[in-house]
Amino acid sequence: MKEHSRIRRALIGGALALALAPLAAPALAADPIVLKFSHVVADDTPKGKGALKFKELAERYTDGAVKVEVYANSTLYKDKEELEALQLGAVQLLAPSLSKFGPLGVREFEVFDLPYIFDGSDALRKVTEGPVGAAFLARLDPKGIKGLAYWDNGFKVLSANAPIRSPDDLRGKKMRIQSSKVLEEQFREIKALPQVMAFSEVYQALQTGVVDGTENTVSNYYTQKVHEVQKHITLTEHGYIGYAVITNKKFWDGLPVEIRTRLDQAMGEATVYANRIAQEENDKALEAVRASGRTEIRTPTEAERKAFIKALLPVHKKMESRVGTATIKSIYEATGFDPAAF
Ligand code: LMR
Repeated sequence: MKEHSRIRRALIGGALALALAPLAAPALAADPIVLKFSHVVADDTPKGKGALKFKELAERYTDGAVKVEVYANSTLYKDKEELEALQLGAVQLLAPSLSKFGPLGVREFEVFDLPYIFDGSDALRKVTEGPVGAAFLARLDPKGIKGLAYWDNGFKVLSANAPIRSPDDLRGKKMRIQSSKVLEEQFREIKALPQVMAFSEVYQALQTGVVDGTENTVSNYYTQKVHEVQKHITLTEHGYIGYAVITNKKFWDGLPVEIRTRLDQAMGEATVYANRIAQEENDKALEAVRASGRTEIRTPTEAERKAFIKALLPVHKKMESRVGTATIKSIYEATGFDPAAF
């Protein structure tokens, strides 16, 4: 079925249910408001577990007046489709990676992709739990999207089928990336060949050699079995993957106040939960990848880490015109990051 008509049918169904609610209140009142929450990762990941926690709390706090349907692993919408579906109201909740908002025209989020810009979760929280992060979410409003929260995944590692000890080891390698110009520039900077690809296509592309390597969090590697098609992982922690939990603004603002208040409460608690378990999930995944014996895991030496930082830091300057000098500066000020210190 053509993608557009599939979204439109879902849209008409949803709008009809909402439009009729007040008229036939007694009969339909029993019918819960359905929130479809679509995402592209597995259930046993920070985001997957966060979405299920939100479902549990939202249904409990609204005494069943709301039903949350979670669609994991791109089963409902793949990367590129999900934002359009949200804007059309065919799905009510998403949590795309901050790397995937460029196509929507909100380039500021790509600042999160700058290599080594966050030297840990504490620095990150100064942005995601502070005014800078709130200002970024507000930039979604004109797109008909409401930013509800930031959810963590973690810091990325690099992988390929040959050892990665220095940036030169990736020269000429085809590397899968998310749809971000900053990530494209990051790999071009070290003479690798970036390939934008939907998350759901990564395993097969590595298995068939369409791409040679990629970058991601270990939780995403393990839960998508990507480690089974990559012989070498280096724990570079060179960049960050996190999410913006978003909804359709008209839908959310149109909810009965009581319902919205309870959903906000559920979202607040699910956010604390998701961000608390994120590191744990990645640590567990790393042990599982190690135990699988399928992939050689390398911790870079201090000298190797410095070589990656030196090779990738110029991307910050090169991306000023794309992401915005003021945007990058706002992160530096919020976190105390000083590129000159490297
Ligand atoms: C990716 O495409 O690699 C990630 O954004 C997937 C995800 O949502 O963690």
